[in-house]
Amino acid sequence: MGENMDGIQRWAGNISYAPCPPEEFCGRHEERNLLRTLLPRAEEHGQAVMISGPPGIGKSSLLNWLAYDLQDRPGGSRSLVIRAEIFEPPRMIFSAFRKLLYDLQVHVVSGWFRDPFGIEYVKEATRYANDLLEKYAALVEPVGLLPKTGEEIIGVFAQTPEVGYDRVREGFWELLQALGRQMVDSGRIAVILLDDAHFASRPDRRLLQDIIHDLPPGVLLVFTCRDGGGYEMTDDRVVPVVHLSGMQSHEIQEMGRRRFDLSPDDATATLLEETAGDPFSLVACFNTLRNRGLEPSSGNIRDLLTGGRDPAEIAFAALPGFWQAWAEALSVLIPPFPLPVMACILGIREADMTLMIEHLQGSSVFRRLPGGGFAFAHSLLQEYCRQNLSADESVALNAGAADCIERSMHLLPMRLHALLSLACHHFNARDYEKAADLNLELGLRYYNREDYDAALMLTRQAIISAEQIGDSALLAAAERQRDLIQQKMADPAGTAR
Ligand SMILES: Nc1ncnc2c1ncn2[C@@H]1O[C@H](COP(=O)(O)OP(=O)(O)OP(=O)(O)O)[C@@H](O)[C@H]1O
Ligand SMILES: [Mg+2]
Repeated sequence: MGENMDGIQRWAGNISYAPCPPEEFCGRHEERNLLRTLLPRAEEHGQAVMISGPPGIGKSSLLNWLAYDLQDRPGGSRSLVIRAEIFEPPRMIFSAFRKLLYDLQVHVVSGWFRDPFGIEYVKEATRYANDLLEKYAALVEPVGLLPKTGEEIIGVFAQTPEVGYDRVREGFWELLQALGRQMVDSGRIAVILLDDAHFASRPDRRLLQDIIHDLPPGVLLVFTCRDGGGYEMTDDRVVPVVHLSGMQSHEIQEMGRRRFDLSPDDATATLLEETAGDPFSLVACFNTLRNRGLEPSSGNIRDLLTGGRDPAEIAFAALPGFWQAWAEALSVLIPPFPLPVMACILGIREADMTLMIEHLQGSSVFRRLPGGGFAFAHSLLQEYCRQNLSADESVALNAGAADCIERSMHLLPMRLHALLSLACHHFNARDYEKAADLNLELGLRYYNREDYDAALMLTRQAIISAEQIGDSALLAAAERQRDLIQQKMADPAGTAR
């Protein structure tokens, strides 16, 4: 497939499905004003806000706009903004919080803070909090794992000292206090942005909630969450909600003009508002019209939407074949996708890596992540590609992914992410011999770190694998583990005992 990249075309017509760049952000004036009115509150007593709405409605884009408005806009407040996103499960515990700390360290180094005493204080508190997060999450890493998974990935790891959740919370609390004091002294605010909180593991969720309830003056925390993402019970006096719904016809017209050079008339914009008003669907529709050189007329929109097509299907159909192939091939990966693994799957030689990165960055399907890896521009596209694979294709792609990860293991910075990916790829490739122990072992470690959702998912994979290979001892162990996890999920505090 990727022998060479000659077939690749820059599709001038396709606008990316990634969150909107702030300079192209359209409409949403009410929501923007609402966010701006919360700033004085953040100065006074610390403030949290939730941006909610269905998939593809523009939550991440609004978060991008806010980051720009507060940090980069000429004449803006020059606030300190740190930002992270949480990925779909199974993911690493606290990795988003560690990314936030990383951003903070970058600000410290870049001389954002003026007061030398304050700098030292924030620096020290950041280092300490990071150390605690790292140690907490490190215990998930299997020690001396599994001869069955291949020589290179075994390795021996030093035991890390036990760090309980309470210490993590305290470390974070101290850091935020130090940061808040700095902000109040300099008359500015620190803004923490956390995208996709609905994906958060139980420990991440707990930390987020603890932080929300103890925000110091000078700190604004904004997080996004899909509807039904588990934060509905949050008290809206403590955490106001900016809820996004479909775009209105005038916003749709603005988007057509600014992002696609298309000017739908009033009737067409109203039709779009009623049928495909979420921004993801709009991007898919406008991309299709522009690629095919069609007018943005009501008739063309009706043709496009007949049969109630899934917006991700429309988006996928509008991609050139080359990108469709890459999207399908990479859809089985768990984000963030490491570069060496992507290159291996796509059959790209080391000498062509830079070119591959350039192409991926220029595409509308993938986006580069701050750590250097990639993800799908939008998770709806990845989900669509995954669901569309036949059973045989899925087995083959997962087997290929597992093979590529094993081969690139020495190049991968996030070992745990690699092991987690391997556990899933072996399982999905029906390589149950390799999947069984790895899933069981990782499941146990996630259980110990109280991420019960990931623990249950991995343990279930271990159970099926043990059944498939007919290993009754392993099956019994896996079932015991599942029961323990389910007990904890039903009664996390252990009060029933
Ligand atoms: N206000 C806007 N103006 C222009 N384009 C937008 C706007 N909001 C969103 N978009 C576009 O719509 C698509 C979906 O937006 P976004 O990724 O922000 O949605 P989301 O709510 O974060 O989705 P998810 O729930 O999957 O995280 C993106 O391609 C983005 O560029
Ligand atoms: Mg988003």
